[in-house]
Amino acid sequence: MHQEVGLIATVAVGFVFAAVLGYLADRLRLPPLVGYLVAGIMIGSYTPGFVADGELASQLAEMGVILLMFGVGLHFSTSDLLAVRGVAVPGALGRILFATLIGIGLAFWLGWGLGAGLVFGLSLSVASTVVLLKALEEQNMVDSVDGRVAVGWLIVEDLAMVLALVLLPPLAGLLGGHADAASGSAAGTEGIAIALTLAMTLLKVGAFAGMAIFIGPKVVPWVLTLVARTGSPELFTLSVLAIALGIAFGSAEIFGVSFALGAFFAGVVMSESHLSHRAAADSLPLQNAFSVLFFVSVGMLFDPSILVRDPIAVVAVLALIIVARSVIAFGIVLLLRYPIGMGLSIAAGLAQIGEFSFILAGLGVSLGLLPREGQDLILAGAILSITLNPLVLLAGEGLQKSIRSAWPSLSKKYGKRNHDKLSRELAIIQTRNEERNRQHQLEMQQLIETFPMFAQVSEDSQEELLLLFRPKSASPGERVVRAGDRGDGMYFISSGAVEVQLEDENVRLEAGAFFGEMALLSGGRRTADVVAVDFCEFLLLERRDFNMFMARHPALRAAVSNMARERTEMNVSRRRRDQSLDAT
Ligand code: CMP
Repeated sequence: MHQEVGLIATVAVGFVFAAVLGYLADRLRLPPLVGYLVAGIMIGSYTPGFVADGELASQLAEMGVILLMFGVGLHFSTSDLLAVRGVAVPGALGRILFATLIGIGLAFWLGWGLGAGLVFGLSLSVASTVVLLKALEEQNMVDSVDGRVAVGWLIVEDLAMVLALVLLPPLAGLLGGHADAASGSAAGTEGIAIALTLAMTLLKVGAFAGMAIFIGPKVVPWVLTLVARTGSPELFTLSVLAIALGIAFGSAEIFGVSFALGAFFAGVVMSESHLSHRAAADSLPLQNAFSVLFFVSVGMLFDPSILVRDPIAVVAVLALIIVARSVIAFGIVLLLRYPIGMGLSIAAGLAQIGEFSFILAGLGVSLGLLPREGQDLILAGAILSITLNPLVLLAGEGLQKSIRSAWPSLSKKYGKRNHDKLSRELAIIQTRNEERNRQHQLEMQQLIETFPMFAQVSEDSQEELLLLFRPKSASPGERVVRAGDRGDGMYFISSGAVEVQLEDENVRLEAGAFFGEMALLSGGRRTADVVAVDFCEFLLLERRDFNMFMARHPALRAAVSNMARERTEMNVSRRRRDQSLDAT
């Protein structure tokens, strides 16, 4: 049984265990993450019973990381980060520096070298995006000032870790691990070779970032719009995933940039498109599923015997993660003259380690830098600190309350100026974002108000219509449709008025009405001239889009066909009446 565990068995058993234990964790008021990790431990090779395929699980985990970082990128807001940079950048970098130094100290105490210390320290210095975002959501704090500072802080930490992931392989040889293939050279030239590799790596990352920043925002939203216009939901989801995984894989192959960085940039680039919320909603289920597998596979790597083998080291690691890093974060926030409350929220919110620590630890082991025991300690620290996080958050709140009652004026005044300035800036950004959303909502609302017939299609289809419509305008006297021409599209009048020129009578159509449907439905020629009698704005649905959209909305097609039939009958009876008048 142990040898032949295939992909489906690994995924199925992983999901079943994760679902059951995640539910149990939730009942115990713990983050479900803890359940996933424990599920991993149970199906890992260190515990008896079913053993899933570790190699497969780690590949699935990599998918999880790619999708996770893609999600982080999708929600990344450059303007938010710029607004909170004053506290997030020095805070994150300062904390990484101090925590890494302490980590190196711990490593020396455990008898390891500098390379191991560096990987160990860095792994212990970065908080978990998943855990923080979940906690913020639960407390309804995602949009609060403290919440946005915490997210900004975390993004800076993540970016620093991505850089560490990229730089570690070329530096491995120098730090006492297996030299990277590219940097393995004769002893004398080793320094130059490493410097060269390092420069090349940075150059590649720069080239990739440049491409992502300058070309991505032009190409990706264009592709998304193009695909959205086809109206096929699965094609849209597929394209979102193809872009995310394609950029992640491509950047790793071409530029040697990590999957994680590639996926992050794919998300950032996609967040520029106004379809990003749909992309986010579409990729979320897959992202959730694979991030569960990620945590399960991390659990599989964990050897629980470390808890008995070396309890003192586990406690020391935990003290660094929860106590020392919180004190450092709190101290930096106060030093930068931001409020005590913010310091405590950030300290408590970021008092755990997570996905990046696992990735970094895994890389450290594979480069021969970090001993297995180091990875076990990091995993133990992560699992325990994530489990304890709800308690730490409660402690933070309690401390905040007692400080507020012990020193009311100090806790109110300290850092107030910086805080007020920051909250004003963030409020402006939020209003701008809301304004943009409102604009879009308004557009949809106007569409339905002007053309009530669209109220019967789903909101997604209404959005699709907005993408399909081509705006067109006409001045008074301009002929919009000529009798006898082939039908190029159907016109919806959003403002102004036109006259349909029938043989001896003109029919006036105003805003809210449509014309040009007959030729499209019959496949024949235009039946009349249509001339603008006012300044007009139209929404043109081109023939191809008309056919596609109507095929998927039979009720709408029926309504339009009915109108066309009524008009034809009216024209026929008018003609008959005229002919009989002529005859008499
Ligand atoms: P189509 O034949 O494509 O181009 C001319 C358009 O005039 C036609 O589609 C109808 O949309 C519109 N039209 C024709 N007859 C009438 C009518 N009696 N009342 C209103 N609109 C009409």
